[in-house]
Amino acid sequence: MKPIIILGIESSCDDTSASIVQDGVMLSNVTANQSIHASYGGVVPELASRAHQQSIIPVVHQALKQANIGKHDLTAIAFTRGPGLLGSLLVGASFAKGLAQALRIPLLDVNHLQAHVLAHFISQGQDNERMPTYPFLCLLVSGGNSQIVLAKGYDDMQVIGQTIDDAAGEAFDKCAKVMGLPYPGGPHIDRLARQGNPTAFVLNKPQIPDFNYSFSGLKTSFLYLIRDKSVHNPSFVHDNMPDLCASLQYTIIEILMNKVRKAAKELNINQIAVAGGVSANSGLRDSLQEHAARYGWQVYIPAFEFTTDNAAMIAITGYLKYQHNDFCSLDKVPFSRVTNKF
Ligand code: KG4
Repeated sequence: MKPIIILGIESSCDDTSASIVQDGVMLSNVTANQSIHASYGGVVPELASRAHQQSIIPVVHQALKQANIGKHDLTAIAFTRGPGLLGSLLVGASFAKGLAQALRIPLLDVNHLQAHVLAHFISQGQDNERMPTYPFLCLLVSGGNSQIVLAKGYDDMQVIGQTIDDAAGEAFDKCAKVMGLPYPGGPHIDRLARQGNPTAFVLNKPQIPDFNYSFSGLKTSFLYLIRDKSVHNPSFVHDNMPDLCASLQYTIIEILMNKVRKAAKELNINQIAVAGGVSANSGLRDSLQEHAARYGWQVYIPAFEFTTDNAAMIAITGYLKYQHNDFCSLDKVPFSRVTNKF
């Protein structure tokens, strides 16, 4: 039988990525990161879309080359339709539409957040791969989102809890900025926290109902702690960097895991997955393993390359949609906002 070969394209924020998936197995996953944003302390949307324009053709070319696939071998093209930065999404969507038309093959539109959850189904063709079965819970934590998703099927996902203000990644990044660490601060805090005492400083934990999150109070309490202590000791941050990082990371993980525990208990689900950039955090990974041992959970933690934005998760979602004839027409346009179901 002819193989099903999907080209996936991701361009929702500041990574241009292309991937080839053949019959559900990833053959390539190529990503061009945009270092230009570091000097601005955050992603600049206009610069992001310009950089996507520069990168998209070489990245797709490289993904095809690494997979040893010609463009005429492609069965369909999957692209990120949203949520994300509109200018960035437009680059990937327009490219995907143009190429699909030229090759006369179908298009598959992919929800970026659904794809993060489905990243757990990326196969690299090895025997020992573990994948969740439905239903499972996914803690989706990135720079722009903090959600608990109830996944009942590849196309049946419900956001049962989400942040009412900042995302977990934003809390890491903004607190890192207060300490003078480079952007994005999450990985720096993770590294420094390993040498610190997580209970050295007590920070604010929100009291938010249901499975929702809030990180703005924590951010403010961190800012006030530094402001007040620095009055007496101007080098307070410098002197206490590992303890500050460890205390902050510990508190963010406590906030995240409290709600995951509550959701797992109330919904009686013991398969717990994690996704998004913050799932690279070593403390969060350790905490998930500890919970697995204590509560009998099956936990699913993605490989590092699939935690941040990547096209392999778009291609695998496209593959699942292709199998269900879930195609999209050319008039589907990108969207920027997060939805509660995907
Ligand atoms: O999913 P992602 O790559 O894209 C966006 O949502 O933009 O997530 C990026 C976020 C940033 O906030 C970054 O600081 C955070 O993930 N992050 C981490 C770690 N690695 C990346 N946060 C904590 N610890 C890490 N090791």
